[in-house]
Amino acid sequence: MDVIETVREMQATAESLRQGGQTIALVPTMGYLHEAHLELMRVGKRHADKLVISIFVNPTQFGPSEDFNRYPRDPEGDLDKAKSVGVDIVFMPPVEEMYPHGFQTTVSVSQLSQHLCGLSRPGHFDGVATVVCKLFNITKPHIAIFGQKDYQQLSIISRMVMDLNMDIQIIGVPTVREPDGLAMSSRNAYLSQDQRPSALCLKQSLDLASRLVEEGHQKASDIKKAVEDLIRSHPYTKIDYVSICDPVTLEEIDHVEKSTLLALAVKVGQTRLIDNCILEVKE
Ligand code: PAF
Repeated sequence: MDVIETVREMQATAESLRQGGQTIALVPTMGYLHEAHLELMRVGKRHADKLVISIFVNPTQFGPSEDFNRYPRDPEGDLDKAKSVGVDIVFMPPVEEMYPHGFQTTVSVSQLSQHLCGLSRPGHFDGVATVVCKLFNITKPHIAIFGQKDYQQLSIISRMVMDLNMDIQIIGVPTVREPDGLAMSSRNAYLSQDQRPSALCLKQSLDLASRLVEEGHQKASDIKKAVEDLIRSHPYTKIDYVSICDPVTLEEIDHVEKSTLLALAVKVGQTRLIDNCILEVKE
């Protein structure tokens, strides 16, 4: 497994792989790798000749009062895990390499960024779209793999690829969960032992809403109310949003009449957790 830290070397390596007829899969990450990242990597491995991952905690997607400085980091452990799933190349640039002096260009997927997490994290998705666009230009992948836990991120990246005619196939991988249902996330490391049971309210909410829809409930406000009550019954929780929306445009809807996205963001103590599911309506 090679570890590359400069843009120039990564681009040259990717170019020579392409010249040699090899296909490249990219899994972009911010490190502190866990089982869900490893699953993205296994999918990547199956879809291309060479698997590249990036490990870069991207400062531009964190707001001024967010957790950039304390975001968990474990470069040594990450390299061991990457090796264990057969990653070929780890691209691990320092911040100055990605954002040299004078950097000023932003990719903004304007409408999709206005909903859900975009409302409470202004600028976040511009930071994500910009860094992912850069990572695509640097690692030159044929395929890139993202988790469906970050549904809005996946939608925004798919839209960017479409709008800017990037010749890259985007693959979304279903959310990987802990045995008790909590969606895997590097931020789960922030949860105290006391708070950990409250974090289950997200998956419980998805299950409750799915059950309500299955039983024939359609009114979004009723489903939301049931979910909000469930979340509030857990200590340490503060709802950021409960959204029932169109899975393509992310615009709120009033009635669940076709496949609909339920997306949640809940603070448990200081830790902001997200989760989502598609509410399926029987024909
Ligand atoms: O999902 C993440 O870890 C990040 O948002 C990503 C896609 C690596 C961009 O920094």
